[in-house]
Amino acid sequence: MDCVLKLDRLPEKKPFIEGIRRAPRRDSVLSEHDMEIALKNALRYIPERFHEELAPEFMEELKTRGRIYGYRFRPEGRLWGKPIDCYEGKCIEGKAFQVMIDNNLDFEVALYPYELVTYGETGQVCQNWMQYLLIKQYLKELTNTQTLVIESGHPLGVFRSHENAPRVILTNGLMVGLFDKPEEFNRAAAMGVANYGQMTAGGWMYIGPQGIVHGTFNTLLNAGRLKLGIPKDKDLAGRLFVSAGLGGMSGAQGKAAEIAGAAAIIAEVDYSRIETRYKQGWVSKVSDDLATCVKWAQEAQKEGTPLAIAYHGNVVDLLHYLINNNIHVDLLSDQTSCHAVYEGGYCPVGVSFAERTRLLAEDHETFKAKVNASLKQHIAAIDELHKRGTYFFDYGNSFLKAVYDAGVTSICKNGENEKDGFVYPSYVEDILGPQLFDYGYGPFRWVCLSGKPEDLDKTDAAAMDCIDPTRRYQDRDNWVWVRDAKKNKMVVGTQARILYQDAMGRLKIALRFNEMVRNGEIGPVMLGRDHHDTGGTDSPFRETSNIKDGSNIMADMATQCFAGNAARGMSLIALHNGGGVGIGKSINGGFGMVLDGSERVDRILSSAMPWDTMGGVARRAWARNENAIETCLAYNRDNEGTDCITIPHIADDALVHNTVLNALKD
Ligand SMILES: NC(=O)c1ccc[n+]([C@@H]2O[C@H](COP(=O)([O-])OP(=O)(O)OC[C@H]3O[C@@H](n4cnc5c(N)ncnc54)[C@H](O)[C@@H]3O)[C@@H](O)[C@H]2O)c1
Repeated sequence: MDCVLKLDRLPEKKPFIEGIRRAPRRDSVLSEHDMEIALKNALRYIPERFHEELAPEFMEELKTRGRIYGYRFRPEGRLWGKPIDCYEGKCIEGKAFQVMIDNNLDFEVALYPYELVTYGETGQVCQNWMQYLLIKQYLKELTNTQTLVIESGHPLGVFRSHENAPRVILTNGLMVGLFDKPEEFNRAAAMGVANYGQMTAGGWMYIGPQGIVHGTFNTLLNAGRLKLGIPKDKDLAGRLFVSAGLGGMSGAQGKAAEIAGAAAIIAEVDYSRIETRYKQGWVSKVSDDLATCVKWAQEAQKEGTPLAIAYHGNVVDLLHYLINNNIHVDLLSDQTSCHAVYEGGYCPVGVSFAERTRLLAEDHETFKAKVNASLKQHIAAIDELHKRGTYFFDYGNSFLKAVYDAGVTSICKNGENEKDGFVYPSYVEDILGPQLFDYGYGPFRWVCLSGKPEDLDKTDAAAMDCIDPTRRYQDRDNWVWVRDAKKNKMVVGTQARILYQDAMGRLKIALRFNEMVRNGEIGPVMLGRDHHDTGGTDSPFRETSNIKDGSNIMADMATQCFAGNAARGMSLIALHNGGGVGIGKSINGGFGMVLDGSERVDRILSSAMPWDTMGGVARRAWARNENAIETCLAYNRDNEGTDCITIPHIADDALVHNTVLNALKD
């Protein structure tokens, strides 16, 4: 096995294909010494005889793009997740991961494919094209008694392990506490030692915006049930949902709203992203005229028909129009990339998309000031709509944190700082947390590695068969979701499916799929999940925002989830810093599990799948979350002799309150 990148000659420089989105210049404040290190770091991948030619080229990339991507090493043309048999490899996992990596970099799937960004403005598969080539080189040689170690996109090497060990262990952006801040991260990223993995980008499990459609659908539907009083068997027909963002994940909003029956207006400043969603059929109408957008929405509401409208413009302008024209909004959110608010994730009002890109490259201070001013106008408009009866929720994009960072302390629950959260709930705090995560329902997903649509049809049918729609309303929602999945045409990239399931639901489906592979009914399958789940992520502003025992600032759960999945033999395990909310604000992890039809895989699934989810439910139960306690009690009953989750005693609130009060009086 070669321990350096095999390179007989330098690949030719290639032109960038027009029409493919490019990342803006990234922030990088490097000293002269830092720049020298950055350059030496990038040249580590390349034989010395090519350094003279490459050094100025890499330096130019650092100067103009803020990072060294090594563009010339990108394979020519479109990358895409081909059928697994098209890949070379010595073990099935080595080939399967290549499918996943290429899918994450597909022009059709990725946000900035040339910069290896899959989604979420900054979420990268790895940092540069030299790493990409080296990872692929290792994956081709990897055997089933070795493990490839990846640190922030860099393949550190292959080490001996055993058949039941993970084939790949990867981490992204993990930082020492003292330095765990965006500025330090940006410096490290510019020097080529830190990768922002987001969640599934750096974990190679992104499956296009479908991955988030189901979660968004669940959130909207349950927000309607909880906050608008819509009965459990009805949908959002006649209701108006307003939000911003039609990018990587936010692009799911229109589709999810339509599936939930609503009329939706989604603002988006970048026309190319609207075009993508329109071509896919994920938004049905497009206009840059506010009166037209509102007219279409009102007609759809009157008829009770679903309709997703893209407004080409700034969300703040949209909100002002709705206020000035007294239009009632039922549900309101925002999915601009506020986790990277000053890096281009949020476009300030009054600034065109092109001007935003210029300011980012040439005048960062002015850009920052405009972002702050825009966020202030944005939250003032939300406050006004809220007063008029709109339900607003933060969509896990760090929007409220960004507003707070812009200087608005009135949105803090304690009026001073973010420690006790914000006056508007995060969607997990009120909706997804108690209604889904506390039961263990989370974004389970799979990819049919054969690339055959008929395999996906068979797995959809098998998954449906595994769900009892009469058990709980969540099961009925999930059953309906998978029943209609094909009709809703959600596949972008590989033949993949997302399906919210609880711990034992996931296990049942996983075992059924593995049996189908064994019987030759379908080709191999890659299982995984979004990191945005019950147990994989510690994130006080999002996934763990409904944990109220003070442990929301701890990262033990996500770390244990990762370690436990390794111990049980998942094929790929990942642990990242940041994710959807930004550096230092979360630790998140996920897994990939290749189903090859073997009994060995059955055994791994039987221990790893329940752990992956129930570790999270157990922690939520210990935080006294009622639905999680109920779920753990049932789990303990059903799994006596193998598993036992610690259950909390619940102290009486009045007793506790009076005890503390009396003690303070003394
Ligand atoms: N929905 C979820 O469950 C979920 C899960 C994880 C993360 N997120 C978060 O949601 C955010 C969006 O993710 P993404 O992958 O779609 O990112 P993205 O960067 O691909 O998309 C955001 C879009 O917002 C647009 N935009 C920015 N400012 C705007 C403005 N003022 N008005 C109108 N449009 C504007 C951008 O042009 C961009 O297309 C991220 O912060 C992500 O972490 C959401």
